[in-house]
Amino acid sequence: MTPFHYRDHRLCAESVRLSDIAEAVGTPVYVYSSQALQDSYRSYADAFAGLPVTICYAVKANDSLAVLRLLAAEGAGADVVSGGELRYALAAGIPAGRVVFSGVGKTREELAFALAEGVMQINVEVASELDVLSQIATAIGKTAKVAIRINPDVDAGTIAQISTGKAENKFGIAYEDAPALFRHAHSLPGVEPVGIAVHIGSQITKLEPYRDAFLRVRTLYEELKADGLPLERIDLGGGLGIVYNQEEPPSVAAYAGVVREVFHGLDAQFVFEPGRRIAGLAGVLVTKVITEKQTATKRFVIVDAAMNDLIRPALYDAYHPIQPETAPDADTEWIEADLVGPICESTDQFAANRPLPPLLADDMLVIGAAGAYGAVMACEYNGRPRVPEVLVRGSDWAVVRRRPTYEEMLAAQNLPPWLEEA
Ligand code: LLP
Repeated sequence: MTPFHYRDHRLCAESVRLSDIAEAVGTPVYVYSSQALQDSYRSYADAFAGLPVTICYAVKANDSLAVLRLLAAEGAGADVVSGGELRYALAAGIPAGRVVFSGVGKTREELAFALAEGVMQINVEVASELDVLSQIATAIGKTAKVAIRINPDVDAGTIAQISTGKAENKFGIAYEDAPALFRHAHSLPGVEPVGIAVHIGSQITKLEPYRDAFLRVRTLYEELKADGLPLERIDLGGGLGIVYNQEEPPSVAAYAGVVREVFHGLDAQFVFEPGRRIAGLAGVLVTKVITEKQTATKRFVIVDAAMNDLIRPALYDAYHPIQPETAPDADTEWIEADLVGPICESTDQFAANRPLPPLLADDMLVIGAAGAYGAVMACEYNGRPRVPEVLVRGSDWAVVRRRPTYEEMLAAQNLPPWLEEA
């Protein structure tokens, strides 16, 4: 049984009707399935069984504390990219010793915090960061264990906005420059280069780019070891895609097969940073129809969710599946419509020319594959409160991030003294 399915014509998350949640919490609302999160995490754990691996869930995909806690209980580590995400991971019970700190621009404060907490590894992709780490680490009597992220210059075949592994991207250290930087890192007090990291992009649906990048990593790892560098770890990043529409992404087992094949016989520990593949299919965005509008040429369905709640369609022209909360009768005619939100921008659109059944005000639609890069990318544009999040487990559910009140939104602002009188 899939975690989101119709039961008696009503769409449910596990054993809970989405309409029950919507009635209690209001819409729009994100709903996550514990079962789906567990299953996807376990698909990684199972696929890599027998190898020395740490699966560091990429917190950026979905940073709900409840999601992090659930994954922590499964044994997950975390891949974080800011002091905020590191705090979320620690607060959720993920030990610092299972946390990787990635990112192209970390501040001194963030690095000092990560070192003080004792994170497993800091992924460096800017030469100057090594010197900063050396200063901070020696000042506080710690050692910074670093992996250097290389840019393997492969094309992962994703959309340009989320490609990260090509030479023209801002990410990683050029392959050719890596050996010198490893030696520099090795010479610095307070810095211990422990591994190589790579991440070539997101929503990747082919294994070949991975194989190409991994082969380059193996070659470099062996060269550096032969050169006397005491490396022990290889971080292969994330990026494995999911099905939004007609994609055919490889199974996690097939991906693991490539890892086993490329790194066969190599003495190393492995780190993975999956985000979307863990959380993406585990969440939906439930929204209510405000009204319909028929123009001379088009049917518009206007809903109460908008691009501030789920920005992927507006930002990347991304496809998300859409289902009615109540399954229409088999003989219902589905008519193409543009599904749009209330925001004053033409990009505030979830789908174009999508067949939808007849809908009345207050009917609900469910936008699927929204568990990753959904709520985390939400904002309060147009004075719209941040969308709440709910976690379902079997027939239980709980609000895990509530919708702020308008009073709270107003309270975060204040007027400067010279405008108070005006
Ligand atoms: N590791 C690093 C270093 C990353 O930059 C990312 C994602 C991940 C791991 C996790 O990648 P995943 O397994 O989730 O593909 N907002 C975009 C996706 C941006 C991904 C950025 N980096 C979207 O909505 O498609």
